[in-house]
Amino acid sequence: MSITEQHKKLERNVTLLGVGALITVAIGGIVEIAPLFWIDNTIEEVDGMRPYTPLEQAGRDIYVREGCYVCHSQMIRPFRDEVERYGHYSLAAESMYDHPFQWGSKRTGPDLARVGGRYSDEWHVQHLMDPQSVVPESVMPQYGFLAETDLEVPDPAAALSALRMVGVPYTDRDIEMAAADLRAQANPDTDPEDLEDRYPKAKIRDFDGDPKRLTEMDALVAYLQMLGTLVDVNSAAAQEELASETGR
Ligand code: HEC
Repeated sequence: MSITEQHKKLERNVTLLGVGALITVAIGGIVEIAPLFWIDNTIEEVDGMRPYTPLEQAGRDIYVREGCYVCHSQMIRPFRDEVERYGHYSLAAESMYDHPFQWGSKRTGPDLARVGGRYSDEWHVQHLMDPQSVVPESVMPQYGFLAETDLEVPDPAAALSALRMVGVPYTDRDIEMAAADLRAQANPDTDPEDLEDRYPKAKIRDFDGDPKRLTEMDALVAYLQMLGTLVDVNSAAAQEELASETGR
């Protein structure tokens, strides 16, 4: 019996066809899913990426609370128009400590993945208080109340411990120092101790223009000023290219 004759049998028997289709789909599924059980990590690590400081993390929580993601994405796609406007496309490792991630799918405003360092703190504060005062046609709402609200993180150490549970590599020292770090980063008058060693490239300064108070504005601006500044993308991209060339 030729192979086409055999295939006819399959085509005419619906049960046989169903079983055959199931086997084929199962093979495809196994090939895609099974390797995930044997590899430790699906994200290629890059130099410079570190967990967020307690202050940046608090700012991130405010970002999520206020729904900034409803209008802003945090993922630059690898297309020429995006790269020219926002900078190097986002690397997977740059959101590896995000729980939940903020990639987003809506851009009423611009992508914020690399907004850190692009504007001064004063600009951010002014813009958040009254966006239309700096960009008259802006439809962004006003967030002036953030500058009047004291930052309250009930238990900074617990917040970091929870993140550690889902894989963010905070050390015991980070957790022990969480409450002190939270205040020290926004207050140039206190001793930040080893904050900068544990969180390289952390910006330590008063962010909201009012050094006497620690406000939600401090936290949010600290978070925005960090976005996209941790990884030296050009060296990370070079690293990635090298890895693909050598087949690693
Ligand atoms: C209703 C939609 C909307 C919401 C909600 C919103 N924004 Fe915006 N945002 C915009 C628009 C539109 C622009 C561009 C015009 C401008 O600069 O104001 C913008 C611009 C920005 C910029 C300047 C980006 C750049 O590269 O020039 C930052 C930073 C920013 N928003 C942060 C935030 C933060 C933080 C929040 C949450 C507290 C937020 N936005 C909430 C619409 C929004």
